[in-house]
Amino acid sequence: MKQKTFVNPIEWRNGTVRIIDQTRLPVELKYEDCAKVSDIWWAIKKLKVRGAPLIGIAGALGFLLGMHKARAKGRSSLRKEAKKLHAYLSLSRPTAVNLSWALSRMQDVVDSCVDKPKDEVLRELKDEVERIIDEDIKMCFRMSEYGSKIIHSGDRLLTVCNAGGLATSGYGTALGVFYRAHEDGKNIKVYACETRPLLQGARLTTWELMHNGIDTTLICDNVAADVMRRFKISGIFVGADRIAANGDFANKIGTYSLAVLANYHKIPFYCAAPFSTFDLSISCGRQIPIEERDKKEVTSLYFKKPIAPLGVSVFNPAFDVTPHGLVSGIITEKGIIRAPFKENIRSIYGK
Ligand code: MRU
Repeated sequence: MKQKTFVNPIEWRNGTVRIIDQTRLPVELKYEDCAKVSDIWWAIKKLKVRGAPLIGIAGALGFLLGMHKARAKGRSSLRKEAKKLHAYLSLSRPTAVNLSWALSRMQDVVDSCVDKPKDEVLRELKDEVERIIDEDIKMCFRMSEYGSKIIHSGDRLLTVCNAGGLATSGYGTALGVFYRAHEDGKNIKVYACETRPLLQGARLTTWELMHNGIDTTLICDNVAADVMRRFKISGIFVGADRIAANGDFANKIGTYSLAVLANYHKIPFYCAAPFSTFDLSISCGRQIPIEERDKKEVTSLYFKKPIAPLGVSVFNPAFDVTPHGLVSGIITEKGIIRAPFKENIRSIYGK
């Protein structure tokens, strides 16, 4: 079985971080080398790299880059530098908890390197990034195994945004489940919501799915209800940016609407996410910080053509929260968690 798709969205290359600039897809597959920590910060902010697990990996690589560039040599100045990097990078985007999770792991490495020379600290940081990437690959793969078991040949599935190889180390969470079902020989058809305003569904998900040989149909977001009823959708699979201790979760804006519609149409609604997306320090979805983005994303068509009157008020949250009561299950690398979510999440990850 493949553990990666055809894309390698990020890598460390001769002291720089090479990314795919996802804002240019699908028109152009363009790689960009980030040589400065601020390049990574902006790449995350502008969604050149995006998707919760990939944001975590990008943050860790940005941290490694910053520590390479740091002039500091002594233990306390290295730690100070590490703290600054941690604080700076974690401000690039607030919702995906994978970012602070990965940055804390990097910070812990620096903190544990008592009296080690800088070269050794850098080696250990590089090892830690490699572990984070390797774990992500394995977690996506395990999720895909559990997820594929609940998909049947002939299923018509629906997703939103992009929870694929481009959003992770290369395989994907929700899309990883589809890839695995396809590799297992199941004949599936996937409807991808375009995902206004930044069109991750139209630009990225359809591109990935088609390259992986999946029967793909793009729909406008407001067609979802009609498709659910007319084409008898068998399951909805989405990713997550942060999952609270009670199973409420944040994902791309529009996910909550899909969950409500799924409930009405009695369609199973699954979220697929690894351990790095759980935030057990918060009890429920109300505590998840929701990013609000520039109004220009809404008042123009992909920053090109204005489509609203100048000066109009805009509300542009990048994510919404789906309450756990609308969720059939959370597909994780340890199995599918079902209700009662609070108890079952605690028994799997609580320790
Ligand atoms: O704003 P984005 O493109 O970073 O939003 C991404 C999503 O909402 C994904 O569904 C989520 O991060 C899960 S990625 C495996």
